[in-house]
Amino acid sequence: MRVLLTGGAGYIGSHTLLKLLRQGHEALVLDNFSNSSPRALGRVKQLAQADFEVREGSICDAERLDQVFAEFRPEAVIHFAGLKAVGESNEKPLHYYAQNVSGSITLLAAMQKHDCRQMVFSSSATVYGDAAYLPYDEAHPLQPTNPYGRTKLFIEEIIRDWAASWPDASAVLLRYFNPVGADPSGQIGEDPQAIPNNLVPYIAQVAVGRLPFLSIFGGDYDTRDGTGERDYIHVEDLAAAHLAAVSFGHSQTGCEAINIGTGHGTTVLELLRAFERASGRKVPHKIVAERAGDVARSFASVTKARTLLGWQAERNLDDMCHSTWNWQSRNPDGYDA
Ligand code: NAD
Ligand code: UD1
Repeated sequence: MRVLLTGGAGYIGSHTLLKLLRQGHEALVLDNFSNSSPRALGRVKQLAQADFEVREGSICDAERLDQVFAEFRPEAVIHFAGLKAVGESNEKPLHYYAQNVSGSITLLAAMQKHDCRQMVFSSSATVYGDAAYLPYDEAHPLQPTNPYGRTKLFIEEIIRDWAASWPDASAVLLRYFNPVGADPSGQIGEDPQAIPNNLVPYIAQVAVGRLPFLSIFGGDYDTRDGTGERDYIHVEDLAAAHLAAVSFGHSQTGCEAINIGTGHGTTVLELLRAFERASGRKVPHKIVAERAGDVARSFASVTKARTLLGWQAERNLDDMCHSTWNWQSRNPDGYDA
């Protein structure tokens, strides 16, 4: 199929792009490189031994989208593009709504104009907010606790209405849990532009010597060891879930929200120990106060993904830590090295 990846130069987009190319799909990446490097795309090209189109531009630019759709005539869009820093979204909510929500509306309008009926959207488990029960299933109430999470919820609702208004349209809303890990080649991976907000890139930068120690946010949660518990999902498994979603959406109409996780929780301390084993390095750490807005435990019900997509996670915590370390140790300064 001909697939347009918005935000395809980013962390999850680049891994999905590689898998799409390896399976013989045609791809075009539209990215404004606000949080990524064109070098990631060069590396994907080498790894895939296949070519693809790249256009620099924003999903907020209707004219640019018009050109891209007219030229490439995509059959499906995987929509990764967006801003994703929770803290920044509290400081600049309007910027987040403009980029994420307005940008998605502009994209959906371009799809309709050019008769592109299939959308796979990068949503997040953050749409659920505090757990009313666990595991989170797709029927769990949706109450995100920050502007970033609300952009994801609003976009989901907008896509749902778009799909309902167009009988031929199909949309899959993938609610990712905690994506981590890297391609086994060590050539592509997560490359945060500033000090990482998320646990695994933070640990990786401590292990490689870029940061002095890890602050563990809270040691007194109601979990096995008192530290926060999350459902970490290997980015390669996540990439495979996108291919399954593209193929599911091809033969369906309507809109489905689907969790993408492993169904298992791992605590911060468990992850830290696994990373120390994988890297052979000590990761100095201290327990500090809880981070505002954090939940104690989060993990997915993965039944719907199995049933509808025929997909399930195959990689374990050791694979996630090994591949992260392989990427980080080969690229201590990320793509800028
Ligand atoms: P990322 O920042 O690495 O990738 C996003 C890409 O979109 C970047 O290449 C960036 O330059 C591009 N971009 C941003 N705004 C754009 C715009 N207006 N026009 C064109 N391109 C734009 O992030 P990621 O981790 O790969 O996440 C991809 C998507 O998945 C995001 O929508 C994110 O919210 C969502 N998500 C990520 C996580 C996670 O933990 N990484 C979890 C849940 C959901
Ligand atoms: C965070 C976001 C969430 C977003 C997700 C994307 C917040 C409140 N939530 O989720 O909206 O969808 O990232 O990946 O920011 N931790 C530490 N020390 C650190 C960093 C994290 O102890 O330096 C702990 C956290 O308290 C948590 C776990 O590690 O228990 C995972 O944190 P993180 O990677 O930031 O993911 P989430 O909090 O699940």
